[in-house]
Amino acid sequence: MNTLIIGASGGIGAALCEEALADDNVSRLLATSRDPDSLPSHDKLLPVALDLCSTQSMTSAVQKVCADVDQIDRLIIASGFLHDAQHSPEKALRELDGETLQRVVQINALGPMLVFAALEPLLKQATAPKVLFLSAQVGSIGDNRLGGWYGYRMAKAALNQGVRTAAIEAGRWRNDASLVAVHPGTTATALSEPFLARRQGQVQTPQACAALIWQLADQLEAASSGSFLRADGGELPW
Ligand SMILES: NC(=O)c1ccc[n+]([C@@H]2O[C@H](COP(=O)([O-])OP(=O)(O)OC[C@H]3O[C@@H](n4cnc5c(N)ncnc54)[C@H](OP(=O)(O)O)[C@@H]3O)[C@@H](O)[C@H]2O)c1
Repeated sequence: MNTLIIGASGGIGAALCEEALADDNVSRLLATSRDPDSLPSHDKLLPVALDLCSTQSMTSAVQKVCADVDQIDRLIIASGFLHDAQHSPEKALRELDGETLQRVVQINALGPMLVFAALEPLLKQATAPKVLFLSAQVGSIGDNRLGGWYGYRMAKAALNQGVRTAAIEAGRWRNDASLVAVHPGTTATALSEPFLARRQGQVQTPQACAALIWQLADQLEAASSGSFLRADGGELPW
């Protein structure tokens, strides 16, 4: 099974790489980061440089993947962006900034969809390929009761619509493809770290999260394609 993990250096992405490397069914693991030298060295693993904010980087990354494998059986997009030293999620309209919003949408929604689209030929070659886009419950429009976090919410909602639309098209590939948006659940990583102190619900380790996501991928069937799921397989409202 050829597996591609986008965002393989992240908290959840790195734990997913460990799952993949420990799974004897995985013959090849392609793993991306903006800093591919930071990825683990392993004979099954091909590190690939990928910056979702750069068209040239996305093109080169897809070329490198296509030169290495003829098909992709499992694709997990575990990249994402919520905050950095310059940007915290917006609490109010006055905090909206155009450049930041564009970056948030590029990394969380447009980049993943563009890379996925470029990989279509490799996914079509597989039998029952599984594609999991890590989204977030805060991207659910129906579930939004708190407000705030404009950019991240809008970006994940856009991603969700992209996944749903692509799942309908992939249903015509006739290879039992399944594409889903997945809320991993609150997980202790650099992305969630500033917000964990105020959180009352459960926080899982990246390893526990990755184990659930890996199991979800194993069990995913074409009948569930186009769903928005929790890592344990439960459905979320769009
Ligand atoms: N942690 C949570 O509680 C939680 C909750 C809900 C949803 N999620 C979602 O789960 C996914 C994984 O989150 P995480 O907590 O593991 O985050 P994380 O530890 O911050 O990792 C983020 C990943 O995104 C990649 N990334 C960031 N900017 C990028 C860019 N411009 N181009 C390419 N890759 C980029 C990073 O790769 P490099 O820096 O190596 O390039 C890194 O691998 C995200 O989609 C996130 O929105 C997480």
